Amino acid sequence: MNSYIKLKKKIQSKNIKIGVIGLGYVGLPLSLTISERGYKVYGFDKDINKINSLYKFKSYIKHVSSLRIKKLIKKKLFIPIGQFNFLKSIDIIILCVPTPLTKNKKPDLTYIKNSVDLVFKYFKPGKKIILESTTYPGTCKDLIIDKLKKQKLTEGIDYYLSYSPEREDPGNKKFQTIDIPKVIGASNNKSKILGELFYGSVFKKIIPVKNLETAEATKIYENIFRAINIALVNELKFGLKKLNIDIWDVIKASSTKPFGFMPFYPGPGLGGHCIPIDPIYLSWKCKKVGYDCKFISLAEKINSSVPDKIINEILNFKKSKKKFKILLIGLAYKKNIDDYRESPSLYILNKLIRKKVKVDFHDNFIKNITENRHYPKLTNMKSRKLDYKNLKKYNLVVLLTDHDYINYNLLKKYSKKIIDTRGRLNGKNVIKM
Ligand SMILES: NC(=O)c1ccc[n+]([C@@H]2O[C@H](COP(=O)([O-])OP(=O)(O)OC[C@H]3O[C@@H](n4cnc5c(N)ncnc54)[C@H](O)[C@@H]3O)[C@@H](O)[C@H]2O)c1
Repeated sequence: MNSYIKLKKKIQSKNIKIGVIGLGYVGLPLSLTISERGYKVYGFDKDINKINSLYKFKSYIKHVSSLRIKKLIKKKLFIPIGQFNFLKSIDIIILCVPTPLTKNKKPDLTYIKNSVDLVFKYFKPGKKIILESTTYPGTCKDLIIDKLKKQKLTEGIDYYLSYSPEREDPGNKKFQTIDIPKVIGASNNKSKILGELFYGSVFKKIIPVKNLETAEATKIYENIFRAINIALVNELKFGLKKLNIDIWDVIKASSTKPFGFMPFYPGPGLGGHCIPIDPIYLSWKCKKVGYDCKFISLAEKINSSVPDKIINEILNFKKSKKKFKILLIGLAYKKNIDDYRESPSLYILNKLIRKKVKVDFHDNFIKNITENRHYPKLTNMKSRKLDYKNLKKYNLVVLLTDHDYINYNLLKKYSKKIIDTRGRLNGKNVIKM
């Protein structure tokens, strides 16, 4: 029996071993979703603390429940594992590794390259590979197909590749992984059939597209769409303020239009692992082929200028005061989550400290700043309690992330002055920014 038929039969019978490389915000929920559909999923991560934590049935991601992990590990449907030689026996390998930027703001493809090296190191013919990481169109060809070709392995014969972008929205209770339509692309018929057969049995709806590059570009377009619309509303916020118009009132009224409008909201700047980063993957790629994506660079310029505008407002307010202490509320890059990667709050906190401003932060989801690539000096800073006694101590409170658990009445009542970057508050002591 040839490897294609064998793999197809294995998927149909669910008698197949799935491996997910990278158990982070994307890989962990995806592993659990696939195992909940009756597949045996081996979760690989190089971070041994994550593997240990999973075996203690302890989730390290706020919106992924520990009980869900416990159930699936006990049923032996989810098997976290740190030994990569086990990849040899895996039939379908899904790559969910990070795609950050280098210091020079170029795509950092090391994680994808390293995981492809692992796949190759433990390669056996007849495997299916699926890349989920967000990346520029052409990555599958450049980093997987061409690379494995050099080792005399041909896609569609020795292995079967698909690209299927993760569209996870952490903290969004309305959509579980399984409900989000799954775009999937491949470069030949066998890879296409196997990919669609497998993901068709996991997700409620799959969206096949014509090739790998279309699937890669789809995800990146979705994130560019957000980055540009957020830049637009961030720019209008400052323009309308000069005209004494409240952007939040305008968005609310515009949102009543039943067609042709979608609300986006201003904030303290862009954060997270996707929106500030992914657009640069495409502009970098387009530059290589001689095209300048002007919209992307303009949006980046506008969005990245917002945190400094907030810092200037804080410093302006501080000017006249001898004793000055401020509290930043919300470290996560968006509400109700515990992820502070690329969060503008970290940038603001770090810059204020450098400017010798006395500053504390509060975030119930981030009690302690542990890891962060850009601001090592912030490591070990601890979240302050949000109560009336504490609030009274600060000359200024700055609302950066509007988690739902925050008691906004308390905040308004006991803060001397508040800068609100999220349009949550009104009143005499509130400066909207
Ligand atoms: N976080 C999101 O909301 C989100 C949404 C959609 C898409 N994405 C994309 O998905 C990809 C993964 O993002 P994430 O947020 O899950 O990242 P993450 O940092 O949360 O998780 C990545 C995991 O991969 C592990 N890892 C890295 N290299 C490895 C290797 N060689 N072998 C084994 N494990 C390895 C890390 O230890 C980490 O646990 C990125 O491309 C991202 O842009 C993220």
